[in-house]
Amino acid sequence: MFPETVLHTDRLVLRPFTAADAQDTQASCADALTQRWLPLPRPYTLDAATTWCTSVSHALRESGDGIHFAVTDSRTERLVGTVGLKKTDWRGLTSEVGYWVSPWARGRGIATEATRALADWLLTGRRFERLELRAATANTASQKTALKSGFHREGILRNAGFVHDGRVDLVLFSLVADDLRGR
Ligand SMILES: CC(C)(COP(=O)(O)OP(=O)(O)OC[C@H]1O[C@@H](n2cnc3c(N)ncnc32)[C@H](O)[C@@H]1OP(=O)(O)O)[C@@H](O)C(=O)NCCC(=O)NCCS
Repeated sequence: MFPETVLHTDRLVLRPFTAADAQDTQASCADALTQRWLPLPRPYTLDAATTWCTSVSHALRESGDGIHFAVTDSRTERLVGTVGLKKTDWRGLTSEVGYWVSPWARGRGIATEATRALADWLLTGRRFERLELRAATANTASQKTALKSGFHREGILRNAGFVHDGRVDLVLFSLVADDLRGR
């Protein structure tokens, strides 16, 4: 499993979720754009947010599946989003990144800054070989985030994803260790 970790960037602190993040997590996950692209519970209740912040996000790290960070503004300490890893393959040294940004923090490069920090930590710090990112073909903001974070577009995974509205094709992106060494 990944160790409990805190990461710092110019504007952000990436740290484990706590009960104090529940209200902002609920507002972020109930938001229409988050609900459009992520198949989260609908309605997304304060109970669901509290369970994620205090239990599920930590259990997923302890299970070896990945690690989930609360992304916070280092100045105000308020939650501005999440970035995390899932489906980690410890033998193949690959994992998959996912994120959402709170509606009050979008359009400021938060997703890109947090994704870059996590990718550096994984591929340089922990010597993983490959990080994948999947986004629905119509999710322009997420695809831009992937490219701005240095990912390469590999192709389309037909009918590979699902959102509340039904099945979607996904664009597969990857970042590999050599991409960062060449940066
Ligand atoms: C995708 C998401 C995380 C991006 O977060 P963000 O912090 O606003 O992204 P950034 O500010 O780093 O912007 C990245 C790029 O996307 C662009 N972008 C942001 N919102 C956009 C939108 N609604 N439409 C088109 N482009 C958009 C930005 O302009 C920027 O590109 P640019 O610098 O060329 O202008 C955010 O929109 C979100 O939470 N969406 C809902 C959840 C989701 O889709 N998660 C990913 C599932 S794969």
